[in-house]
Amino acid sequence: LRQPAVPEGLRRPPGPRGYPILGNVLELRKDTHLALTRLSRRYGDVMEVRIGTRAVLVLSGLDTIRQALVKQGEDFMGRPDLYSFRFIADGQSLGFSPDSGEVWKARRKLAQSALKSFSVAPSPTSSCSCLLEEHVSKEAEYLVTKFLQLMEDEKRFEPYQYLVVSVANVICAMCFGKRYEHDDQELLRLVNSTEEFNNVAAAGNPADFIPVLRYLPSRSMELFMDFNRYFLSFLQKRVKEHYDTYDENNIRDITDSLIEQCLDKKMGTSAAMQIPKEKIVNLVNDLFGAGFESTTTALSWSLLYLVTYPNMQKRIQEELDQTIGRERRPRLSDRGTLPYTEAFILEMFRHSSFLPFTIPHSTTKDTELNGYYIPKDRCVFVNQWQVNHDEKLWQDPEAFSPERFLSADGTKVNKEEAEKVLVFGLGKRKCIGENIARWQVFLFLATLLQQLEFSVCEGSRVDMTPLYGLSLKHKRCEHFQAVWPSGTECIA
Ligand code: HEM
Repeated sequence: LRQPAVPEGLRRPPGPRGYPILGNVLELRKDTHLALTRLSRRYGDVMEVRIGTRAVLVLSGLDTIRQALVKQGEDFMGRPDLYSFRFIADGQSLGFSPDSGEVWKARRKLAQSALKSFSVAPSPTSSCSCLLEEHVSKEAEYLVTKFLQLMEDEKRFEPYQYLVVSVANVICAMCFGKRYEHDDQELLRLVNSTEEFNNVAAAGNPADFIPVLRYLPSRSMELFMDFNRYFLSFLQKRVKEHYDTYDENNIRDITDSLIEQCLDKKMGTSAAMQIPKEKIVNLVNDLFGAGFESTTTALSWSLLYLVTYPNMQKRIQEELDQTIGRERRPRLSDRGTLPYTEAFILEMFRHSSFLPFTIPHSTTKDTELNGYYIPKDRCVFVNQWQVNHDEKLWQDPEAFSPERFLSADGTKVNKEEAEKVLVFGLGKRKCIGENIARWQVFLFLATLLQQLEFSVCEGSRVDMTPLYGLSLKHKRCEHFQAVWPSGTECIA
């Protein structure tokens, strides 16, 4: 392996010696986030590993990550050209493709603005404060009814399959102005095969780094490609329907607003905005894909923690009772008034760290970090899991304790502590759906917990062992139960 010369005064990042050809791939194969966290204890916040013959820079420690992604944001905002990413959204994904130039910047801006218009904009038809509140309230209400019906019919249920359709419906409403039934086969096929995406898009997938593996038959790669093809064709159908019924005087949803941008004459005026048409409409792929998968995972982990720690569930319900009561449903504006609920959500994000790494970054030019030389086009893994479990930042990081985010009197969320949790990335590539995701998780949980108490059947336990992938999943649990909170009347 040829390494670029290191300029005087700088050093090469340290890291474990690997095997010839394989590099460190064997050590990193399983639970990559844990393996890299262990290695970072030995080699530090700026470390280099090799996957196959390719060097990968691994960043740990909140200060180092802030330095790289925020203070030196331009240097670290690239995306590596990874083999598996070429199959996502036909290689045109905003989040996964190697583009980080003017076209990416302009697309990101368009996506952010379209997302904002159809989430926090006032709802024209309901009393809700915004469209997002309207969609989430409707879907959460549906879930309450569904869970109670399942209890009546079967006495137990597996929540993930219902959560995923409800969360997908929220982003579908924003992107396509459409809601799907929970037994819609077209949507179910899509939302139930994300595992295939999750496994291959995980940080450190050997096929991305060891070219010969691409020529060997791989079932997981085939499933990944099938998933991406199906996903694209599902979305293209929706986009075509929109083109066919488009009316410039009635912009119905995100897809319409992106079509409007394509047709907008002003677009031609700035070189930066000369984005090919299909690259604009394809933005819905990123919004839709990123929009349902991680938010569902957040809610699913939340339910697992709630049944594992029933005393915390009770405390959230007491807080909801005292602050909101039972005469009305929770709203987004209640978020600042429910500190324990908020602290629970922060602790779920921190403790599960279900996105253990950001999407991989790459350097856009030769640079330095903490006295180490980093050449251009270096692939960079950002270890969010390490930050969220760093003993230097958190007392007893393995304990699940929402209290760590509360002021001493329990009445406020401590902002400084909250900002240490790293799940949405930082800087120029930071998640563009962060606010929407946080609001959704809050409103889904508050609405569900105002009306239901969750548990698992007597004698069964949920398995919290994280399964490694782009996002950390857990085994599904078929033994969930939900009842009206004890000692209360039905409040329909
Ligand atoms: C990127 C987390 C929900 C849209 C990301 C990244 C993370 C993340 C870690 C990569 C940041 C980086 O590479 O440095 C999450 C979590 C979510 C969530 C934890 C839910 C709990 C959403 C939602 C949307 C969204 C609801 C849109 C509706 C995106 C997009 C990118 C992204 C488009 C790519 C940005 C770019 O590369 O420029 N997200 N996300 N995400 N997210 Fe999210």
